[in-house]
Amino acid sequence: MLRVGYPAVLPAELLSGFPKEVELIPLTNEMDQTMDIDVWIPDPYPTRARKVWPNLRGVRLVLAMLAGTEWIPEVVGPHVTICNAKGAHNVSTAEWTLASILATLKYFPFYGQMQQAGLWKLRYKASEHYAAMTGDTRPIYPPVMLEELTGKTVLLAGYGSIGKDIEKMLEPFHLNLLRVARSARSDPKVHAIAELDSLIPQAEVIILIVPSTAETRSLIGPRQFGLMQQGALLVNAARGPVVDTDALVAALQAGKIRAAVDVTEPEPLPEGHPLWSCPNLLITPHIGGSSPHFSRNAMRVAAAELHRYIAAEPLQNVVQAAV
Ligand SMILES: NC(=O)c1ccc[n+]([C@@H]2O[C@H](COP(=O)([O-])OP(=O)(O)OC[C@H]3O[C@@H](n4cnc5c(N)ncnc54)[C@H](OP(=O)(O)O)[C@@H]3O)[C@@H](O)[C@H]2O)c1
Repeated sequence: MLRVGYPAVLPAELLSGFPKEVELIPLTNEMDQTMDIDVWIPDPYPTRARKVWPNLRGVRLVLAMLAGTEWIPEVVGPHVTICNAKGAHNVSTAEWTLASILATLKYFPFYGQMQQAGLWKLRYKASEHYAAMTGDTRPIYPPVMLEELTGKTVLLAGYGSIGKDIEKMLEPFHLNLLRVARSARSDPKVHAIAELDSLIPQAEVIILIVPSTAETRSLIGPRQFGLMQQGALLVNAARGPVVDTDALVAALQAGKIRAAVDVTEPEPLPEGHPLWSCPNLLITPHIGGSSPHFSRNAMRVAAAELHRYIAAEPLQNVVQAAV
């Protein structure tokens, strides 16, 4: 029997698709005795999962509940295979991306403040804001009170599982989409990351949906902010370290760009951090992948991987192969 340890908080019905050949072992975050298991499904909260790991023995395979697995290799070491939950959070993360772009361009955070103040006439401030952000000071009548996404040039950095679903959700907006991944390819055209700096000046919206790795660390730094259009919107749906936080704060405080970030570095963002008070910034607390379907989707992906593992077929979502 293959012994599979999983977070005890998960309802058993979510594991009903697991192969019959496995023994399911619920693991609590407070476990105080060692446990022999073959496969570990860690709690999606790294701080909780890190507490469990020292009590586990014999783990050969980790099936993560998240697409991003950057904290796991340093915890489990190189002799364990790690698979992510590729595909499980595509809908929620792509919807967050679309929502954050539209919320920003439609000035929803600003109108939320207007509502709090109970002052309808504040709506004209949107026009001043538009002129200041974009540098477009033409007398526009009626005054600008929201912007359009349709027809804009959007740079999509990361054209993997979620990036492709973001593209599908953006299709009705008839965008000029500039796709970027590690390597270039055609049909559809994808640019290599080496071209990033030459593409940034063209983009009105820049979406980040790459994994957090040594190569993507500070992918967007002072140089890239300098290359952005006045008023460009940076959307970070990926991971905090992909953006240089100090450079982001500087670009926002200078009134050069707008941003929507679901992820930050550090995370959680501490009280009093300069990002909290930056202008033109929408922050959500790393909820892009969250939805009522989160665990069900992640367990569906894990079950499929376990069926392959037992049948000795190649695993599909390997992010680290055991050495
Ligand atoms: N905010 C949230 O709650 C949330 C939720 C889910 C996921 N995420 C983040 O989103 C990331 C992407 O997820 P996914 O499922 O789409 O992953 P994926 O299918 O592995 O796709 C990753 C994409 O990033 C590209 N990439 C990797 N390294 C790169 C580099 N150094 N430079 C440029 N591009 C690079 C890949 O290029 P190639 O195609 O050339 O390989 C690929 O297009 C996850 O790792 C996670 O960190 C965040």
